[in-house]
Amino acid sequence: MNPNIVIRSETADDATAIGEVTVAAFAPLEVSRHDEQHIVEALRVHGALTLSLVAEMDGRVVGHVAFSPVALSDGTQDWYGLGPVSVSPEVQRQGIGKALIREGLSRLRGLGARGCCLVGHPGYYRRFGFENVPGLGVEGVPPEVFFALAFDGAPPRGTVTFHEAFGTKT
Ligand SMILES: CC(C)(COP(=O)(O)OP(=O)(O)OC[C@H]1O[C@@H](n2cnc3c(N)ncnc32)[C@H](O)[C@@H]1OP(=O)(O)O)[C@@H](O)C(=O)NCCC(=O)NCCS
Repeated sequence: MNPNIVIRSETADDATAIGEVTVAAFAPLEVSRHDEQHIVEALRVHGALTLSLVAEMDGRVVGHVAFSPVALSDGTQDWYGLGPVSVSPEVQRQGIGKALIREGLSRLRGLGARGCCLVGHPGYYRRFGFENVPGLGVEGVPPEVFFALAFDGAPPRGTVTFHEAFGTKT
């Protein structure tokens, strides 16, 4: 990856740039509701951004990933949801998304998390160890786009509920 790229936690000054990167990254995606920037804001307002990492290239924010707590129907604690994750279109496919996710997962483990899950593109997340887990999912979401990664032992069973910020209306 470009050595001028730094992955770091967001600061109060980054909110606008994160919003802009998020809007630009999701703009071409037909499957998107184009509300991802509002989800990030709502997570921040609710104090639910457990981790919010930016990728900075030459002093400019060009990528972002959010991690927030999820609820599991079987009562399992300390699981987190990954997303939204965004990289500015002009610098995609250069390893920035990968670096953001790897660093985020490493920091999550360091916080004592037991696992992470997400709804996302089936082609992208297996490289990080995420899998479709039979018996674990989100209501109304096709199983092939729900991915989970248990950090210790077997993944839980049941239903995952993401933070209410993911229901944010635009
Ligand atoms: C998805 C996203 C965050 C990936 O970031 P990125 O910096 O472009 O990705 P990377 O360069 O780290 O990609 C790593 C690998 O994934 C592949 N890849 C990137 N985007 C992909 C996609 N949408 N589907 C499948 N593979 C993808 C790359 O080809 C690369 O493969 P390689 O390591 O074998 O060469 C970025 O493309 C993005 O912001 N997309 C729009 C928003 C979005 O889709 N967010 C995720 C919602 S599920």
